Amino acid sequence: MSRFLREANSFTKGLILFFRPGVYLGFLAKPFLFFSNTLQLTKWISKENKKNILNDFYRPFRNHADRIKLYEHVLEKENLANAEINYLEFGVFEATSFKWWMNANINAASKFYGFDTFEGLPEGWGTYGKGDMYARFPHLDDARHEMVKGLFQDTLFKFLDEHNIDDKRRVIHLDADLFSSTLFVLTTLARHLKKGDIIMFDEFNVPNHEFYAYKMFVDSYYMKFELLGAVNNFYQVAFIVV
Ligand SMILES: C[S@@+](CC[C@H](N)C(=O)[O-])C[C@H]1O[C@@H](n2cnc3c(N)ncnc32)[C@H](O)[C@@H]1O
Repeated sequence: MSRFLREANSFTKGLILFFRPGVYLGFLAKPFLFFSNTLQLTKWISKENKKNILNDFYRPFRNHADRIKLYEHVLEKENLANAEINYLEFGVFEATSFKWWMNANINAASKFYGFDTFEGLPEGWGTYGKGDMYARFPHLDDARHEMVKGLFQDTLFKFLDEHNIDDKRRVIHLDADLFSSTLFVLTTLARHLKKGDIIMFDEFNVPNHEFYAYKMFVDSYYMKFELLGAVNNFYQVAFIVV
């Protein structure tokens, strides 16, 4: 019986490949992926919708400024204000969140690394097109920081060869919006992640982007992230590696 099923399965698969439905039904791929990821996301939310952490779910409208509440929560809960950390932010734009974290952590030995093309998004994202979010290269006073200009895909390997990010607790801020950028960073940093590291996402509840990258990553690397807090209906979230 199972042999019959296997043969029927392989015959049907062959037929599907032969007729190449992707050529005329390819337009359905994105909406179907969106539908599937929305199911995964809402299932994830119902599991993670904890009340004993910072969490404003459900609220009818988003307030972007509330992400600061999440930063403050993480800073206080994890005693990060005086801790020696390696802060890495992917997606710096005008350095708003980058400056917040650099001001909030006062340890002289901490390092702050910002990564961005500073020439805008490398791909479209929702209503934003390629090249949107163009920002001038920020020149900041604090000597503890370094900006790395270019595509993560071009700069991150070289950066990791030249810098030691394993010597301090890592605080990683993923704010690149895109699935590709987020997944690339997570997989490239995977070998450096240790228990106690903090991972923040800035657009987490977007089904086909940051959430999808998170899901692919934790499922493929068997990695466990515990939720520390969430604001704006899980738009901004913070995890700790456990
Ligand atoms: C939403 S903005 C960052 C906002 C910033 N963290 C803040 O709080 O103001 C997203 C940024 O990610 C950058 N970005 C996205 N994918 C990238 C990639 N693969 N390489 C380099 N930069 C990327 C874009 O250039 C853009 O500036």
